[in-house]
Amino acid sequence: MANAERMEAQLKALSLISEQGEEGTTRLSYTPEYRKGADYIKKLMEEAGLTVREDAAGLVWGLLPGTDPDAPKLISGSHLDTVRCSGFYDGQAGIICALEAARMIKESGKPLKGDFEVVAIPMEEGARFPNLTGSKLAAGVLKEADLDLVKDTEGTTLREAMLSYGLTGKLDGVDRSKEKVKAFIELHMEQGTLLEDEGIDLGVVDGIFGCYWKTITVRGEVSHPSTPMAKRKDAGLAACRIVSDLSEHVAKNYVGKATVTCGKMDFHPGEINAIPSRAVFSVDFRSGDKKNFDELDAYLAEKIAQVEKDYRVKVEQEVFSNTPPTPNTPAIMNALTTGAKNLGLKSAVLPSGAGHDTMIFAKIWPTGMIFIPSHEGYTHSPREYTDPRNLANGADLIAEAIRILDAQ
Ligand code: GLV
Ligand code: MN
Ligand code: MN
Repeated sequence: MANAERMEAQLKALSLISEQGEEGTTRLSYTPEYRKGADYIKKLMEEAGLTVREDAAGLVWGLLPGTDPDAPKLISGSHLDTVRCSGFYDGQAGIICALEAARMIKESGKPLKGDFEVVAIPMEEGARFPNLTGSKLAAGVLKEADLDLVKDTEGTTLREAMLSYGLTGKLDGVDRSKEKVKAFIELHMEQGTLLEDEGIDLGVVDGIFGCYWKTITVRGEVSHPSTPMAKRKDAGLAACRIVSDLSEHVAKNYVGKATVTCGKMDFHPGEINAIPSRAVFSVDFRSGDKKNFDELDAYLAEKIAQVEKDYRVKVEQEVFSNTPPTPNTPAIMNALTTGAKNLGLKSAVLPSGAGHDTMIFAKIWPTGMIFIPSHEGYTHSPREYTDPRNLANGADLIAEAIRILDAQ
């Protein structure tokens, strides 16, 4: 069975590999902290007896070879990057549990037919580069030419960031879309409270909500606070109007169907005594139904037209990232449900409200996701927590489901 204490200790060690001075863990992709985190994962993989490879995009793969080179591969893992001031389970628990599963399979002395690989993925969070960029590279969704087009929040291209991280700036061997893979399984915190509230050990995820992200720029005119209210072109006020009306609209008309969040807003020149000439803010829509994104886009366009007129500003929109809602594969869900039953654990089928690399791998491979309970649902927060017993249950289920799928 999985060793809960070992996994918790590994996650705590990872939590310290962080930018300093902020609350919680901050490990953005391709930074010196990310390098230290990746090196730590490599060390754990080596200690577990896996063959370690870092690919040209910085994904770290740990291989446990199977007995039949023609059998399809099985893969499990998650992301190693964090948002700023994060907890240390989001993403990271999926890597550590997959690693524990690989260790258990190896130590059982009963090898699999197919290769089993554990993966640690960068750039899932969107805290630096658009979300899901690491899995998009591995799935061949992003190509070599995109390395000069995809930029981080500071305008650094993906290629520049890769070079400064010590990679080649090329993508040789990164695209795995042509390989025969039976399942990609990702374990993650639930990031909600259904499992904890209902006393359920594990969740089997049927579908993942889409994430639709935009960057909106409002342009007005800078001037002194003595300017009469009616004469202003206040980009800041116009931005606040858009966010506030959009949020109210979603809160009123999309209960249980969609959410909207503005997590970032900057004013230029950003002085206490200057009316902002420019406001730039983010919009994050989530929904299980793409139709809601289309409707909300239409509402946003109408709102922008109205605000341009009322506040005498100009507004530009740019899509930062757009991933539609994604179902998981029924055969993998069945293996997870059967696996939980074999282990004597209570499971339930539920959707994921958060985005995951699984959404991208679902384009090329059969996929499944395991949720473990999130204490009080905290996530993207240093208060994120799960009992070590849940980590052990999750690792046991990865190993059990991998065995079931390998035998099919
Ligand atoms: C990933 O954490 C997301 O933003 O859903
Ligand atoms: Mn996250
Ligand atoms: Mn995550």
